Amino acid sequence: MPTRPVVLVTGANQGIGLQIAREFVAYGHVVLLGSRDLARGQAAAETIGRDAHALQLDVTDGVSIAAAAECVRRDYGRLDILIQNAGISNTRRRPDQAIADYAKTIRPSNVPMAEMRAVWDTNVFGALAVYQAMLPLLRAAPGARIVNVSSGMGSLQSNSDPAYPWRSLFGPVYAASKTALNALTVAMAIELERENIKVNAVSPGPTRTKMNGYTGTETVEEAAREVMRVALFDPDGPTGTFTRWENETIPW
Ligand SMILES: NC(=O)c1ccc[n+]([C@@H]2O[C@H](COP(=O)([O-])OP(=O)(O)OC[C@H]3O[C@@H](n4cnc5c(N)ncnc54)[C@H](OP(=O)(O)O)[C@@H]3O)[C@@H](O)[C@H]2O)c1
Repeated sequence: MPTRPVVLVTGANQGIGLQIAREFVAYGHVVLLGSRDLARGQAAAETIGRDAHALQLDVTDGVSIAAAAECVRRDYGRLDILIQNAGISNTRRRPDQAIADYAKTIRPSNVPMAEMRAVWDTNVFGALAVYQAMLPLLRAAPGARIVNVSSGMGSLQSNSDPAYPWRSLFGPVYAASKTALNALTVAMAIELERENIKVNAVSPGPTRTKMNGYTGTETVEEAAREVMRVALFDPDGPTGTFTRWENETIPW
């Protein structure tokens, strides 16, 4: 069993999650790269080095989650840091369809229920299911941390301001799934506040990844900064926060 901290990053075979995994290994931690496709997780882990290990983990699959938790228990006996990064924005947008055009097809009045369920299954129920499965392992670590990778697009207060630039994109699918993830973050932080396990939400900012067809303005290195800062809080650091780089509070 390693004495170094053990980190699980969900959805770490590409994008922001892969960068977070890379940075934790550089920091000296042992990192498990959650990947729903094990081979892609292994290929990603190989690009990092020997302290990066792939772990088959589909956050929408209870059997996969239970097996992943059992692997962590068997191999490490605890989990020091859980980064809930896995996420999807949609299942239906055509590659050639502008995000603004797609947004018109997923308003409250016309959103297909299947689309909403698919995205919430990953971004909301997936995060809750992984939390439940990993909690015994987090409790077995001294001062564990959870970071939920959210989005400023889910801020109800921001979207209530007519001047907020992303407001036209606020809808029941992706943005509201991040609102729900924020609510889970607060509930988890309240549940664990007496156990010295911190739970915080972070918004990486608009980042060039597959999720948005590489149209974001930030690099994955910039996106990972706040996640790393929050995950590595001092023992007396806060819980139940929602921030973007660097320690800028985002209203819920
Ligand atoms: N990019 C941005 O501008 C931005 C802004 C704010 C917040 N975020 C958040 O940042 C996080 C990472 O996104 P990203 O931009 O890095 O996107 P990405 O490159 O598309 O990566 C998403 C990751 O999540 C994984 N994933 C999707 N569904 C999964 C499932 N059911 N089980 C396990 N893993 C699953 C993907 O796996 P596959 O490779 O198998 O699809 C992939 O590894 C997401 O939570 C996203 O909402 C991103």
